[in-house]
Amino acid sequence: MKFFVDTANLEQIKEAHALGILDGVTTNPSLMAKEGISGTEAVMKHYKAICDLVPGDVSAEVISTDFEGMVKEGEALAKIADNIVIKIPMIKDGIKALSYFRDKGIPTNCTLVFSAGQAILAAKAGATYVSPFIGRIDDISWDGMQLIHDIAEIYAVQGFDTEILAASIRNGKHIVEAAKHGADVVTCPLSAMLSLLKHPLTDSGLAKFLADHKAAADKA
Ligand code: E4P
Repeated sequence: MKFFVDTANLEQIKEAHALGILDGVTTNPSLMAKEGISGTEAVMKHYKAICDLVPGDVSAEVISTDFEGMVKEGEALAKIADNIVIKIPMIKDGIKALSYFRDKGIPTNCTLVFSAGQAILAAKAGATYVSPFIGRIDDISWDGMQLIHDIAEIYAVQGFDTEILAASIRNGKHIVEAAKHGADVVTCPLSAMLSLLKHPLTDSGLAKFLADHKAAADKA
């Protein structure tokens, strides 16, 4: 399973990359706005900076909601670097745009996916990645992880090669469950990735090893 970091913050991307386990980055307009990035030139420059930091796939989301606009924006984004993936919303013109980019050989990530039916459409349109939003489904008291399970089952039965990118991941449990249910990729904040490190027995075990080592050294 690949690990993508879900942020437009360059420091967090650098920190995640330094761990040696980072396979890519996802962003969205809200994450770009959070970093204070706005205006075409600044957005393009920021994506270039991210692509220079990370060799893996970097999802860059279009703002347009009509086919022509998405194609124009996506083509400009794709020119930034070889590792740019065009992120397209799950809307009717988005399906057309996904098919267009598939035919051009430009990788895509279909975003804002909340049902198995939408995931089937994304795969039919040749999306490279499909992004079901686990956390946002849980937020409305539905079962986000069940959607990963359903999509994984459908894609396996049908032989679709679109990769399942579990998005809107909020914690370590989400990451583990997404792995169990067959996600190809998880994208999450660095904090969720780092939460996988935590176990009280690791902390107490390490403290004991170090204390025993010190006691032996003090005796010698
Ligand atoms: C990533 O591609 C998504 O845009 C992101 O995971 C959404 O996460 P959120 O629901 O925490 O905003």
